[in-house]
Amino acid sequence: MFADFDYLSPDLAGTLHDTLATMRAQCPVAHSQLHGGYWIATRYDDVLHVAQDWRTFSSEHGVSVPGTTTMVVPAIPEHVDPPKHGEYKRIISPFFTPQAVARHEPATRQIVSRLIDAFVERGECDIMPAFARPFPGLAFFELVLDAPPDEAAHVNELSMAASTPTNPDKAAAWRALFDWIVEFVDERRARAPKGDVVDAILAAEIDGRPIRDDEVIGMVQLLILGGLDTTAGALGHFVIRFCHQPEIPALLRERPERVNDAVEELLRLDGPFVAIARTAMADTQLGGCPVQRGEKVLIYWASANRDEAEFDHPDRFDLDRASNRHIAFGAGPHRCAGSNLARMNLRIAVAELVRRLPDLRLQDGAEPLPFHSALNRTPLRVPVTFTPGPKEGP
Ligand code: HEM
Repeated sequence: MFADFDYLSPDLAGTLHDTLATMRAQCPVAHSQLHGGYWIATRYDDVLHVAQDWRTFSSEHGVSVPGTTTMVVPAIPEHVDPPKHGEYKRIISPFFTPQAVARHEPATRQIVSRLIDAFVERGECDIMPAFARPFPGLAFFELVLDAPPDEAAHVNELSMAASTPTNPDKAAAWRALFDWIVEFVDERRARAPKGDVVDAILAAEIDGRPIRDDEVIGMVQLLILGGLDTTAGALGHFVIRFCHQPEIPALLRERPERVNDAVEELLRLDGPFVAIARTAMADTQLGGCPVQRGEKVLIYWASANRDEAEFDHPDRFDLDRASNRHIAFGAGPHRCAGSNLARMNLRIAVAELVRRLPDLRLQDGAEPLPFHSALNRTPLRVPVTFTPGPKEGP
């Protein structure tokens, strides 16, 4: 059963949650013969176990099943196991605490407001190119990387092209992304330090020696890959849900103090980073299945987050659920380094979208919507209509 399960199939992106529900019910740890063979874990407990047991399930041998990535340098600390992993993560973590990201709130609000102003009078747009895609890129380039914001769209396109498994030119896209990062890092090195995360990476010591160039590039690359597509995908999914369930934006418009809880519930239901892989370092068992040393295991955050054994009525949006231990940001040592930043961005964006775009609807004939598949499931288009409103900025 599920021997032909292809996590890269563009068709799967459309039916993902139904397929995962069937797998949880019929075969919670499945084996596929494709892509050289790999296991698929879909239950909350198994996913959490693999994510936390880094000694048995390593990230050092890549976090996708073979055939999907041709990165020029590995992303760091994503591809490093503890204890070395901690040396890298400690460099970036202080820049993404709740307090550190709160400093960026006013500027983030301005970016959101400016983007919405550009289309709010029209009463229709495709939310992906108009808002969901540019917003995290602009905010990240301007406020975190101190990179030219007008280059964010180009870098965003490269990272999308690089991580699209069916793209025949993905190796060229990885190379172009690498070249852009090399140039950006050189340019930042030539400037006086300003004490931000890029300066911290440039000045870091690993094992008591200065950080190498390939490590610097691997770390900046991961910040870019982590910071852009994911938040964009989340916003696209959230807007689709607002169109299907207009009672959610209506409630949030009346009770904006519930936006934080709503973002958590939306991430549980529609987190864009759907899966990740590990490699077994020893013969072991997972959900009663024999996993052998060297085998790949794909764990589905998206399935864990809708596991009926962990969440009551898991497919329902419920703002009042007693506990929401979702793992949309992962778990274990590799848990998302940017979750506080992502949350801050998503809360501001959701609050403003529901306030300024009443009566959100998908345009006639928009469905079925296409998705970018694989590990990060992002809508490619979300054409919507809404009741037009006035610009608020200058
Ligand atoms: C809604 C938005 C986001 C989602 C759903 C998300 C999800 C995730 C997940 C599931 C992981 C774990 C990967 C693993 O276990 O191997 C992860 C790791 C990571 N994320 Fe995010 N992420 C988001 C936004 C961001 C942002 C804005 C940043 C920017 C700083 C970021 C940076 C990272 C980094 C650096 C890692 C690797 C951490 C490590 O290996 O220790 N992410 N993310």
